[in-house]
Amino acid sequence: MEPRCSVLVLTLAAALSVAGAYDPLDPNGNITIKWDIMSWTPDGYVAVVTINNFQMYRQIMAPGWTVGWTWAKKEVIWSMVGAQATEQGDCSRFKGNIPHCCKRTPAVVDLLPGVPYNQQIANCCRGGVISAYGQDPGAAVAAFQVSVGQAGTTNRTVKVPKNFTLLGPGPGYTCGPAKIVPSTVFLTPDRRRKTQALMTWNVTCTYSQHLASKYPSCCVSFSSFYNDTIVPCAKCACGCVHKTCVQGDSKRPLAVTGKHEHAHAVAAARGHRDKEAPLLQCTTHMCPVRVHWHVKLNYKEYWRAKIAITNFNYRMNYTQWTLVAQHPNLDNITEVFSFDYKPVVAYGSINDTAMFYGLKYFNDHLMQAGPYGNVQSEVLMRKDAGTFTFRQGWAFPRKVYFNGDECQMPPPDAYPYLPNAALPAPAASLGAAVVAVVAFLVLVMV
Ligand SMILES: *[C@@H]1O[C@H](CO)[C@@H](O)[C@H](O)[C@H]1NC(C)=O
Ligand SMILES: *[C@@H]1O[C@H](CO)[C@@H](O)[C@H](O)[C@H]1NC(C)=O
Ligand SMILES: *[C@@H]1O[C@H](CO)[C@@H](O)[C@H](O)[C@H]1NC(C)=O
Ligand SMILES: *[C@@H]1O[C@H](CO)[C@@H](O)[C@H](O)[C@H]1NC(C)=O
Ligand SMILES: *[C@@H]1O[C@H](CO)[C@@H](O)[C@H](O)[C@H]1NC(C)=O
Ligand SMILES: *[C@@H]1O[C@H](CO)[C@@H](O)[C@H](O)[C@H]1NC(C)=O
Ligand SMILES: *[C@@H]1O[C@H](CO)[C@@H](O)[C@H](O)[C@H]1NC(C)=O
Ligand SMILES: *[C@@H]1O[C@H](CO)[C@@H](O)[C@H](O)[C@H]1NC(C)=O
Repeated sequence: MEPRCSVLVLTLAAALSVAGAYDPLDPNGNITIKWDIMSWTPDGYVAVVTINNFQMYRQIMAPGWTVGWTWAKKEVIWSMVGAQATEQGDCSRFKGNIPHCCKRTPAVVDLLPGVPYNQQIANCCRGGVISAYGQDPGAAVAAFQVSVGQAGTTNRTVKVPKNFTLLGPGPGYTCGPAKIVPSTVFLTPDRRRKTQALMTWNVTCTYSQHLASKYPSCCVSFSSFYNDTIVPCAKCACGCVHKTCVQGDSKRPLAVTGKHEHAHAVAAARGHRDKEAPLLQCTTHMCPVRVHWHVKLNYKEYWRAKIAITNFNYRMNYTQWTLVAQHPNLDNITEVFSFDYKPVVAYGSINDTAMFYGLKYFNDHLMQAGPYGNVQSEVLMRKDAGTFTFRQGWAFPRKVYFNGDECQMPPPDAYPYLPNAALPAPAASLGAAVVAVVAFLVLVMV
């Protein structure tokens, strides 16, 4: 009976993880796009659009967000402040005043920092970069103002736009329908008067790594003081097919799989976007980023792990990077050296996940591949006598995310084990025990 249960459990787990837009470490993480109509105009309205990133550890990096939608009727954008539509579209039917954008499906991007003040509004103009909420809640928001024409001019005749899309900057987000919600209430700067939007609608967008890319974008390697085996990232952890790389310092492109011509064709087809495609240093894992977890020291009451993040992409400086690790001892962090740190408590009482990020002006930029392309830290944890052990790979993290994407772990049977441990069998029996316990719970709950 037990094997059948475990198959059921595994199938369930697989189904849940494929279901996509759900991150077990940040179950409430989403990006909301809120439209507040601030005034009516003779042929439409002026709205302030606010993009809030409620994700704990997933930011939007340069070159930034693109928000798109489909107008419900024949609306046009007369003007924008704090952002711009990427294409004007066909405005030939207009005489005199020409709209900013006549496309039925506008795509809007942020302005760059330093635009003239008369083109700015609060929280605009950061080149589309939005911080993760857990790292910097004050910068986890973006906003722009849009003046819409040929639209309804009362809350009953306005039609909400449809089919919202969000690139952050690449694919991965799926947006739900716009929902009319109670009007936002604003407090005046002196906090003595409240005003409210004439009408408000919200759109919620969620992230799914499967939509963002077929392969992981980072991998994890392990080592320990008690075993001199270094467990590397799995071979081709981030996919080898159609990828080119450059050897060490030569910077001469190499095809990894002999599919060079195809890679070139794809790159050529992508045109200028190729500049944003990674230029990887050749490795066996072919990941742009590797996270190494080293179990470094064992004290009587504490133990110490060293974490190093290495960038293998010559075309990317990661600014405001984030690292998330899940390990049962992270609720007893005593000290974190040279990284900043915050617990991520997704489920009330379970405190086994921590977010690490760089110290401002010190190591919050993970430089492009090369001699400076790494950052590192050490974490001191207090042992909990009830759970602590070096056996069976316990000292290694269960999950690791870099910039909000889950990293590929080494296979469970490859973890470094204690020299006196008999065979790799204990790890397998631990796995079986976990499955049995989960199966038991499922049986109890059903
Ligand atoms: C979006 O995130 C916020 C903040 O975590 C949460 O309150 C809200 O329920 C989420 N919305 C949806 C539709 O999940
Ligand atoms: C539209 O405005 C009327 C009052 O002018 C109000 O009663 C109604 O709730 C509003 N509807 C929406 C969808 O905001
Ligand atoms: C919205 O997208 C769906 C599916 O992509 C499509 O069937 C529908 O026609 C679109 N609606 C509009 C108004 O473009
Ligand atoms: C709409 O989004 C805002 C954040 O942008 C949020 O504070 C508010 O609770 C949302 N309203 C609803 C009804 O989801
Ligand atoms: C990364 O930053 C360094 C120093 O600021 C700069 O010299 C380099 O060109 C940057 N690389 C990329 C790919 O932006
Ligand atoms: C989680 O653990 C950290 C120490 O690692 C502690 O500072 C924090 O207060 C804990 N949070 C909760 C909700 O238990
Ligand atoms: C570890 O953290 C948990 C929860 O914060 C706490 O109950 C426990 O006493 C801590 N253990 C040690 C050894 O500090
Ligand atoms: C270290 O761990 C590896 C598994 O990763 C194992 O093959 C090896 O025998 C271990 N070394 C010792 C000295 O036990």
